[in-house]
Amino acid sequence: MIFIASDHGGLDLKEAIKACLAERGLACRDLGTDNGNSVDYPDFGEKVGRAVSCGEAQRGILLCGTGIGMSIVANKFPGVRAALVWDEFTARMAKEHNNANVLVMGGRVQSPDTACRMVGIWLDAVFEGGRHQQRLDKIKQIEEDVQAGRL
Ligand code: RB5
Repeated sequence: MIFIASDHGGLDLKEAIKACLAERGLACRDLGTDNGNSVDYPDFGEKVGRAVSCGEAQRGILLCGTGIGMSIVANKFPGVRAALVWDEFTARMAKEHNNANVLVMGGRVQSPDTACRMVGIWLDAVFEGGRHQQRLDKIKQIEEDVQAGRL
């Protein structure tokens, strides 16, 4: 189950990605927004960030106009590794090197076709572990140190 959300700037891309996920036989839970009215992206990024952080969702997808705001929000949550990707290479690296559990894209940046390809690449790619796991462990340590007031 993939949790997905957007603001108004990512709404059309969200709908396109939902269709791509359905074609792959993948279920998703849409946490909004559900119309084109202007909304604040933190309200929707929070929903996916919290779900992934607490383990309710293993993966999430977030869309806003650029993807920048949603990345900032999602990465506030412990355990969330949200990656703003812009092409097929960065989508693959997001999984192979960063084991990103949230994929972020810009609805005003990406075509639906490219975005769907990036989603597929991210889903199919495999985390390489090894030296990359060591780096993720350091990120986790930073999170813990910040939370404990040591940093
Ligand atoms: C909304 O206009 C826009 O700021 C938002 O979608 C996003 O691009 C923010 O990072």
